Amino acid sequence: MLEKIESAVKDFNAEINNVNSTETLEDIRVKFLGRKGLFAQLFEEFKALPKEEKPKYGQLLNKEKNNASAKFDEVKDEIESKSVSYDSYVDLTLPGVKRKIGNKHILIQTLDEIKVFFKGLGFAIYDGPELESDYNNFEALNFPEDHPARDMQDTFFVNDNFLLRTHTSPTQIRLMKTTKPPIRAIMPGKVYRNEAISAKSYCLFHQVEGLYIDTDVSFAELKSTLVSFAQYLFGADVKYRFRPSFFPFTEPSAEVDIWWEPKGKPGRWLEILGCGMVDPNVLDNVGIDSEKYVGYAFGMGVERMALRKYNIPDIRLFFDNDNRFLEQF
Ligand code: PHE
Repeated sequence: MLEKIESAVKDFNAEINNVNSTETLEDIRVKFLGRKGLFAQLFEEFKALPKEEKPKYGQLLNKEKNNASAKFDEVKDEIESKSVSYDSYVDLTLPGVKRKIGNKHILIQTLDEIKVFFKGLGFAIYDGPELESDYNNFEALNFPEDHPARDMQDTFFVNDNFLLRTHTSPTQIRLMKTTKPPIRAIMPGKVYRNEAISAKSYCLFHQVEGLYIDTDVSFAELKSTLVSFAQYLFGADVKYRFRPSFFPFTEPSAEVDIWWEPKGKPGRWLEILGCGMVDPNVLDNVGIDSEKYVGYAFGMGVERMALRKYNIPDIRLFFDNDNRFLEQF
């Protein structure tokens, strides 16, 4: 009997020390500790022992069985704590989750294209603030005191003397005040107007101002520059027209329209910019000799360019920040 118990303990220890998965662990449990396992069989044999041998083997058998059970539980805990649960199981063969990398907003992309064109012609890039003085936004640009654009309807006034600029033209004033001619620069930026919001107008939009001041600048140069620009942005066959117009700070003045055929709608002219020869009064206001220098200026709407170029039906889409729209560009 003693031999049998010892050999059972020896076999159990050999197997339990080599176990490496929950499946073999279960085999060991059945083989040794189960209801028909080795220890149970030994207990059966124990029952048949002569009375005087019972206490000795009974104690030994109980002790070894309890030891084996304890060892089994210990190994089981150890294996289970090491094995990965199904929930946190990672299948390394599955394709990964694609991370979205952002892209430039379509207006910024359009602005970049505009910059590339004018940089190529030797224009510098100059920045101005969005909060402007009434003087730079209107007065210095030769707006008469009672001009309708000064009306509260169009302008977001901050107080009597300051406002959110209604166009990028005040940046011309800043540049001319601080730089001696010749001056050749574009001035991109945001502008604000207190207008009714619709598919074509928004309370905020982007403009690119252009200014060229030298001793011999002509309207013909202005015109050829803007035509080349329209062909660069919209293609060589773009249909355009120059329309006589009025701005207090340019004389003569014009507006440029391009032909637009939005999908499913009848074609129409879309105004994209205003331009003209800088009014001598403006040069005098900033201390540039208007007898010696002449210049041209233009101001273009970036949203309008993008509407036409990418056939976008509504200006509000630029500002909604809907990824389904933004991701298309
Ligand atoms: N500032 C004018 C506007 O916003 C555009 C313009 C700029 C016109 C420069 C002429 C010269 O409408």
